[in-house]
Amino acid sequence: MNIINLVRSPAVFAGRLIPNRLAAQAMEINSAGRGGSVSQAVLARYASLASGGWGIVVVEAVSITAGSLARVNGLVLDANTLEGFRRLVDSFKAIHPDALFIIQLTHAGRLAGKFSRPVSACGDDAVPRLSTAELDAIRALHGEAARLSADAGFDGVEIKACHGYLGGELLRPMNDRADAYGGSAENRARLVASAVADAKSARAGFMAGVRVSLYEGLRGGCGTAGAGDVIEELSGMRAALGAIVGAGADYLNVSAGVPALTPHLTRPVKGNAFDLYHHFRYARTVKEWFPGLAVIGSAYSTGGESAAAYAEENIAAGGVDVAGFGRQNLADPLFPRKLASAPGDIDYCTLCGGCSKLLKNQEAVRCTAYPRRGPAA
Ligand SMILES: Cc1cc2nc3c(=O)[nH]c(=O)nc-3n(C[C@H](O)[C@H](O)[C@H](O)COP(=O)(O)O)c2cc1C
Repeated sequence: MNIINLVRSPAVFAGRLIPNRLAAQAMEINSAGRGGSVSQAVLARYASLASGGWGIVVVEAVSITAGSLARVNGLVLDANTLEGFRRLVDSFKAIHPDALFIIQLTHAGRLAGKFSRPVSACGDDAVPRLSTAELDAIRALHGEAARLSADAGFDGVEIKACHGYLGGELLRPMNDRADAYGGSAENRARLVASAVADAKSARAGFMAGVRVSLYEGLRGGCGTAGAGDVIEELSGMRAALGAIVGAGADYLNVSAGVPALTPHLTRPVKGNAFDLYHHFRYARTVKEWFPGLAVIGSAYSTGGESAAAYAEENIAAGGVDVAGFGRQNLADPLFPRKLASAPGDIDYCTLCGGCSKLLKNQEAVRCTAYPRRGPAA
């Protein structure tokens, strides 16, 4: 396989034909309109990704409820905002009908902003803990959001169970809740597995993926043996993901870390290829656990000019199906198209951290290294 094949050869992903093996990972731009609605800035951002020719585009984290927002201008999918999401799908598909256009659904959990309502599923701290009835209600909201996503015309949903948000917090071995959402791996995966099952029944052929942090680098976090452990031990994640795959998940999008606590695990920094290689290993590990399942790998922006070669190598070795790029899709939304026809014109992500700082400061996110692009475009 060579670079031209990576970009130009269609591939089968979870039974669907995609134009190439490059995915634009979800990247929050914190630019929604009133009530979390789709704004002009959001339409423009996804139109530019559509023009880029990505095989898969995942819409940034969209909250299943206006009651839990991580960003002050985060997107919300509910009956009030549905029409805008229909427009978003239509405008994207008018430019790039061949891509899979997937929406990421989230509940911010303990990572909701102070302007919203931080709540926890487990852990010993001051954040109020959700009751069983509240988790039941959040589970139902995931199902409703999946149905709305199908109604809006998306090809599928990606349930956010990574980076410390509610779905990922529940998966943690430290989650010792005594109800149906804690304790065993199956219980810890219950909310996410239920969201997957609801999505699968929303529409014939509708896809359901899940994004996870395989190892969070936290005591008792995902990818450890138990509440007291910090060293990587993945058997608990294998069991939890088994329940999620058993519920019908079409793919897993494998990430790592909690950006608020272990940022370099999620977003490896310049000069530390070691963290990037961990991402390669995590994706390959999930492929080995579930050989027939489609897997997207993360953090490829870190590879810079070598990223395409890394992707080819990993795909050829069967260690991943699709290479996911986050920061690179902000730096240059046209990356796949340029890789195919004008590689010398690519604006490579400089890993400067500018976009992350904007997000952290609750500002509209854009690439600060190539500011001529304007807000998030
Ligand atoms: C500004 C910003 C926004 C992000 N938004 C999301 C998001 O909405 N959902 C998600 O799962 N990850 C999100 N991430 C994480 C990225 O998708 C990705 O995992 C991370 O940047 C590492 O990959 P990269 O090296 O390709 O950038 C975000 C990261 C940044 C820097």
